[in-house]
Order: sequence, then structure tokens, then C-alpha cells
Amino acid sequence: MGDFKIHSVTCKAPVNIAVIKYWGKRDTKLILPLNSSVSFTLCTEHLCATTTAAVSPTFKQDQIWLNGEKIENSRLSACLKEIRRRARKRKSVSDNDTDDNIPSEMLNWNVHICSKNNFPTAAGLASSAAGYACLAYCLAKLFKVEGNISDIARLGSGSASRSVFGGAVQWDMGWDSSGSDSIARQLYPHTHWPELKVLILVVTDQQKKVSSFSGMQGSVETSELLQYRIKHCVASRLDAVVNAIGNKDFETLAVNTMKESNQFHAVCLDTYPPISYLNDTSHTIQNLVHSFNKYHQCAKVAYTFDAGPNATLYMLEESVDLFINIVQHYFPPSLSQIGEPFVRGLPVNLIDNIDENLLNLKSIQTTPGAIKYIINTAVGSGPEVVMDPSESLLGEDGLPKQYKESS
Ligand code: DP6
Repeated sequence: MGDFKIHSVTCKAPVNIAVIKYWGKRDTKLILPLNSSVSFTLCTEHLCATTTAAVSPTFKQDQIWLNGEKIENSRLSACLKEIRRRARKRKSVSDNDTDDNIPSEMLNWNVHICSKNNFPTAAGLASSAAGYACLAYCLAKLFKVEGNISDIARLGSGSASRSVFGGAVQWDMGWDSSGSDSIARQLYPHTHWPELKVLILVVTDQQKKVSSFSGMQGSVETSELLQYRIKHCVASRLDAVVNAIGNKDFETLAVNTMKESNQFHAVCLDTYPPISYLNDTSHTIQNLVHSFNKYHQCAKVAYTFDAGPNATLYMLEESVDLFINIVQHYFPPSLSQIGEPFVRGLPVNLIDNIDENLLNLKSIQTTPGAIKYIINTAVGSGPEVVMDPSESLLGEDGLPKQYKESS
């Protein structure tokens, strides 16, 4: 490496799970959506992407490794191009090589990027959201680009635009054909509603069959329900959800979240050929949530499903222990899962006096092994820089520390 220095930054970015879904693009290149969406960003500690980005005059080309594999990707190039454009613009305004600026020549050096997720990639767990948010955040830190970078993350994956902020986040669809107003903003920080908790019931960690990208294109081209939803449903539901979050009105948030998820999956079925992301276990989880809510005579738990069968459940802290115990009752680990932690993330308390009515729900069939594990988590504060150099994914030579040659 001679005397050349490698400049590198490592960051972590979280997953976000939408309560008002983004499904449909009006511009597939710039990734501009047909409707605005709202999500909660989850805790980085339990679900995150980690990325190291480095620049050096010795790097021969821009290169990226994801989960140990070298990959090529045009969306990544779009993010990189936009970061360099903004860094150049910033340089031309303040043309001095001080500490809060980057050396001019750095803009011409190639970049090495290494990224990994601590959860299954592409299983409907918003891995691309965390991945591209992390990439945009990390490159912004490396090239000292300031301001709202949600539109840079958006160029990688639409939902990633929301993961650059913590708490409750809205991605405004915008109207401009350039995409300049299609950006995300924080509605409330994660401290606004600390009682709000999140469970992810992992039904599968397999790669989804129809990617969000092609699935939503199919819906845009063929689903009449998608057009109806955009014209008549999303705006009022979005207002209801945003007000409910502001007022900490869980009942309204829960009902709207579930109806929104159901409508999104109805749009998928209305797509031709139809797309079905949910499986029997997903439907049983929906039944369980409705039975639980009926028992309590109000909405205590809300489900939402993305482009896969895994369920994300929103609930208040007071319901978490009871609901996890009930899930364990109906979906006990199979023999092959014994020894693996069934509940990951935040700790859970055992409850031994659950009402028999909740344990003998007629509509729910006990299915061992149908849920692989549960992630018990909360709303989080957004992406962060990792200070500990030992956590860098790139070695001093600028190559991944654990490099697996792709065959
Ligand atoms: C169902 O952001 O993965 O999770 O922009 O094509 O990369 P692309 O799609 P992506 O779609 C996410 C869709 C969703 C709903 C949501 O997160 O709003």
C-alpha cells in the first residue's frame, strides 16, 4: 500500500417496517413512488446492516461485497454517483482542505464497500432497506456530505429512504419528475412513544420468490385495486396513522396498520399473474392476533406483512410477555429447533397463569416448528457510525476481512 492512506468509515443502519406501505413506482429508474408511506425504524441492536466504505488512490475500481460475495449492482452505482456529485458540489462551494472537508483528490479515487446483515437477506425482512440506508449513510460520512440523504438511499431501494432516520418516518412521494421532493423525514423520534414495541415472527429465512421490485411493477401494470387504493384510500389512512402516532392512540394505529397490510396483500392477489407472499402460518398469525384482540375487546396487537410470510407485530409493552407466551404455546419449537434461542433480542418473562380461553382458541391449530424464532425488539434511533476499528469489515489492505471468492 506504500504511503497511501486508506480513508474508511463503518456504520450500522436499521430495518424499518411500514405501517402505510410503499407499493408501486411512477419512475422505476429514480425510484419514485405512487404514494407516500410511513414506517417505524427498528432497533439497530437486533436487526441491522453493517457497512464499511473505504477510498484509496490504490484501489483499481469501485467494488462491493455483500455478505462475503462480490456483487455488481447498478443501484449501488447510482448511489455512489450521487454522493460524488454532492461532495463535488460541496467542495466547489468551500474550496479548502480543512478537517470538515475532504481532500480534493479523494473524489477521483475508487471505493471499496463491504456490507453484511445480521438477519436473513431478502426474506421480507427489509434487508434492502437497511443495506442501502447503511450504504448511503456510510458514503455520506466518508465523503462528508451533509443534509438529508434519504433520496440517495432511495436510489438503492425505495424503502431504504425511511431507514436513514430513527423513530416514526414518512417518505413523501413528492411530485417533481426529478425526484427532488421525494424524500423521507422524521415524524417523531424513537423517544416519543417508548411503550411501543415490535415482535418479528420469523416464518422463513428463505429468499422470497417474487422480489418487491418485480412484484410492484406487476401490480402497477395489472392491478385495478392498486389504482383505486392510491386514489381513494392511502391519503386518509396515512393521516389517521400519523395522528394516531402523534396522540399515542394505539387502537387507531393498530386497526389502520392491519387494514393497510390486508389491502396491500389484496393488491398482490389482484395482480395478474397473482402474487401471494403470505403462507398458512401467516394466516394463522393473523387469526391469532384477531382472537387475542377479540378476547381483550380492543386492538392490543397489530400485524403487518411485507413481501414475505414473516409477520411484524406492533403492540404496547404491557402486551409483549403475554403475547410471546401465547405464540410459544401455539407454535412451539420443533425438535430440530431445540437448543436454538426461540426468543431473540429483548428479554421475555414466562407467564404461567394464562387464561384457558386464550390457550384453547378453536380457530388456531397448534403447529410445532411453523415459527422459526421471534425477534423481540423496539423502535430505534436510526443509523450510527461504529467507532471501534476492530468492527471494520475491510482490512488494512482495503479487502474484506472475510473474503469468500464467488464461484
Ligand atoms: C412491501 O423498497 O424493497 O416492504 O424500491 O424496488 O427496492 P424497491 O422496493 P422495496 O419495497 C418495499 C415494499 C414493502 C413496503 C414498504 O416497505 O413500504
